[in-house]
Amino acid sequence: MSKQRNILLLGGSGFIGKQLAYALANQGWLVSIPSRRPHRNRSLLVHPNIRLLEANIIDPANLKQLCTGQHAVINLVGILHERRKGDFRRYHVDFIKTVVETCSEVGIQRLLHISALGADQATGSSLYLRSKGEAENLLHTFGQRGLQVTSFQPSVVFGMEDDFINRFAGILKLIFGYFPLACADSKLAPVYVGDLVDRIVSVIDDRESFSRRYTICGPEIFTLQQILELIIESLQLPVRVMPLGKGLSRLQAVILQNLPGKLFTMDNYRSLQTDSTCPDGDLCQTSLRQYVKGLSVMFGNKRDYDNFRKDYPFHENPEGHS
Ligand SMILES: NC(=O)c1ccc[n+]([C@@H]2O[C@H](COP(=O)([O-])OP(=O)(O)OC[C@H]3O[C@@H](n4cnc5c(N)ncnc54)[C@H](OP(=O)(O)O)[C@@H]3O)[C@@H](O)[C@H]2O)c1
Repeated sequence: MSKQRNILLLGGSGFIGKQLAYALANQGWLVSIPSRRPHRNRSLLVHPNIRLLEANIIDPANLKQLCTGQHAVINLVGILHERRKGDFRRYHVDFIKTVVETCSEVGIQRLLHISALGADQATGSSLYLRSKGEAENLLHTFGQRGLQVTSFQPSVVFGMEDDFINRFAGILKLIFGYFPLACADSKLAPVYVGDLVDRIVSVIDDRESFSRRYTICGPEIFTLQQILELIIESLQLPVRVMPLGKGLSRLQAVILQNLPGKLFTMDNYRSLQTDSTCPDGDLCQTSLRQYVKGLSVMFGNKRDYDNFRKDYPFHENPEGHS
């Protein structure tokens, strides 16, 4: 019988990380997930192959302890806005540098990294995209000889616990009349979390993927407005989308970034100026359109529940995903 292999998921307690953890654990990997707030992620512990650890991964000594004895590491740490100036640099660029150094120091040979579509150190339209690009460049420059690296650039990701469809659906449910939408024309190719996870898991042992950067998109391109209209239709809400022009979109960003929760920032606005699509990439299968049809169940309108259950193709749970 082959010996069980260990894998460390940095940022593994997040939306994508959790699904990746279940998929890897189902394949027999012993998955370790450090978290600042493990008590919030106890659901992960239902899987016997998943260990949840309280840790400060930003501390190099703590990171070294966590990396010791691992066969592979996957980094999913990422933020969408800065709480303090310099956070993008701290958590994207400086952090990956420490991860690469630590992996080399303790002899880890495989490192995978989740970046974002449009990430580009030089031409990224926002600080988020430039810092993600710089991190990826760093990874591919220093992660050579002895440490095999692969990175993924997904478009926006959807799934049961996402912060995208869920967030818009939650807001739209509270609104009656018109919803003023910034960057309504921005183009996205949403990718299902199960598809992304399958891609990541499938390349861990694949030599072809060493030193590669993969763009990952869903099968269809939507504007942001079209996505909201799908949600509205599925939930049968009494709301219409009111697209805002550039000036008002920027104004909305300036206002919201100064409110608690930072629902939308100027940096998010700048990210949305770049199409998040894969003109040359190979596309995943799962359709956002089909997925959104199931929203009425998640958000309490049970009228179509029986039909939905009959047709529902998604299985995001510890027993296995699609
Ligand atoms: N979701 C998307 O649509 C999407 C699209 C493209 C790219 N990505 C990239 O994919 C990765 C994962 O995304 P996600 O949506 O799963 O993110 P998420 O749900 O926000 O999870 C992020 C994870 O990073 C950890 N983390 C965040 N800030 C940290 C900090 N300051 N110190 C230590 N840990 C920190 C969190 O761990 P704890 O809070 O438990 O400590 C959490 O597990 C990110 O790099 C993101 O940029 C996501």
